[in-house]
This record gives sequence, structure tokens and C-alpha cells, in this order.
Amino acid sequence: MKTAELARRFAIDKRVRIREVSPHYPIIEINNAHATASIALHGAQILRYQPRGQAPVLWVSKDAVYAEGKSVRGGVPICWPWFGAHPAHKASHGFVRNGFWRLRSIAQLADDSTEIVLSLEDDERSRSLWPVSFALELRVLVAQSLSLSLTMTNRSEIPQTITAALHSYFYVGDIASTAVLGLEQIEYLDALQDFQRFTQFNEIRFDAELDRIYEHCSADEWIHDELLGRRIRLQKTNSRSTVVWNPWIKKSASMSDFEAGGYRHMVCVETGNIASDAVDLAPGGSHTLGVDISVEALSS
Ligand code: BG6
Repeated sequence: MKTAELARRFAIDKRVRIREVSPHYPIIEINNAHATASIALHGAQILRYQPRGQAPVLWVSKDAVYAEGKSVRGGVPICWPWFGAHPAHKASHGFVRNGFWRLRSIAQLADDSTEIVLSLEDDERSRSLWPVSFALELRVLVAQSLSLSLTMTNRSEIPQTITAALHSYFYVGDIASTAVLGLEQIEYLDALQDFQRFTQFNEIRFDAELDRIYEHCSADEWIHDELLGRRIRLQKTNSRSTVVWNPWIKKSASMSDFEAGGYRHMVCVETGNIASDAVDLAPGGSHTLGVDISVEALSS
């Protein structure tokens, strides 16, 4: 559907606008009583969430590319039906972040929050990458918090094993005064040490590249941001893994879409089901992975 047609069907006066950030690349812009936000139809990727009176919650690289086939560096790319590398397929983090989704509905709710639903089904392109019939639905609630809920359905006749992540890039004042809490005593696989297993004893602090998959963790997590004086809270639903990633200097410089020095202002804390937390979907079976993201003052 063309952007003008999407705008005719889905725009809501003063609250929801649809415009192109680059040719044929529509984004939904939300401006309600609680927050502003933007969502790309490409990859159903949240690009921005900013509650009233707050700094942005998500980080997006100034050098990000807005074009079909390439995931935007930042926001919340959706990694599905596999996370990371796949032994038999090329696309890292799966393929649903690399194509346009369908906008199903936008509703303005009684409390002035906004609910957006996007969907994706298998087609010729997806079956050439992964020969499985599926349906995905992303439900987004832009309110005092940002709620994301991804429902995946196996429409094939054989069981499927899925790994997935809501690959959230968070904006932080300074990575040197940022800590991730809630993963103490959890075991992780260290991607920088051949995925060997270690235990996290303390809060996570950053002074070098860090790339880890925490397993069997369902409880809330917090990103403490001492410079901005706030903490971002992640409440997960049906998620047993969390990825924590900061590429630091050398790796970020190797990515052409990663703005210079950007690693100082971001951290990825990704809600997912990965490695031994993979989800088995029976034929016709569904699973919903979700996260609710909110902001609190650090002193509270
Ligand atoms: C993280 C991984 O989730 O995504 C990292 O743990 C990876 O290993 C990063 O480098 C970015 O991946 P991509 O494919 O978006 O460059």
C-alpha cells in the first residue's frame, strides 16, 4: 500500500501521522498525551519512544540506513525465526527485520494511549530463505510505558524450533555511568569467548566490548543511568533469555551505519528466547513474547 493510502486509512487527527523518511519507506508517528513514538513498517521496527518530559528511551544511530532489505541500526529490530547466526541460512538474526510488514490497525484508546498492530506472513521471498508457513503479529501500545508483544504461529505441519529477540537499543547518558541490574546470579554464554558459560555475580558495568546471552531469566531488569538520573525498567512476558550488548570502540567503528562515538550512548538489553531457551512450536501452535518498557526516577 502506498504511503498516501496508508495515511488516508490510518492517520488519526493530531495523534497519528504517516510519512516517508526515505522514498517508499513509511513510518507511523504517534503523538499522544503520554509520549511520542515512531514505528517503521519495515521490520515492524520501533524507532523512537519518548515519554513526556523524558529524554528518548531508545537509541538510533545518526548514520542508520532507511532502505528495504537493511535493518535500521537502533530502535527495536525483531530477530526471528532465529537469533544470531544460523548453521544453514545466511541472514543473521533471521529475515523478518529486513522486509515490510502489513499495518493492520491503529486505535486511539480512551486514556489517549495508542495501539498499533502489524503483521507478517510467509511469502515467496521468506520461503526461499526458510521453507515454513508462519504468521507473526506485533502489538504495540504507546502509553506511559511502551508495550511490545510478538505473537508467532507455526502454520506448517511440522514442529518448529524458534529463537527470537526484541533487539532493543536503549539510549543512555553515558555508558561509563550505566549499569544493568536484575541478572545477578544468572548464567550467560559469552559470545566473545566461544560462547563459554559463566555466572554473573554483580550488576553489569561496561568498560570494553560486551556480548552475552543470559539464559533462564524471566524477572524484571533495570538499566540504571546515573547521568540522566533515571532507570529504564523491562518487564518481560514469556521471555527466558536476555542479550546484553555494547560493541565498544573497535566493533562499532567497523559498522558503517553506527555513528562515531555512538557506543557511549547506547546499550542493548534484548528480550528473547535463545540457545537452550528456544521455543518449540507444534503445528498450529502459537507463542507470545513481550516486554513492557517504562522509565522511573533513579531515586524512586
Ligand atoms: C547482538 C549480538 O544481539 O546483535 C551481537 O549479540 C551482534 O553479536 C549485534 O553484533 C548486532 O547484530 P547486527 O546483525 O544487527 O549487526
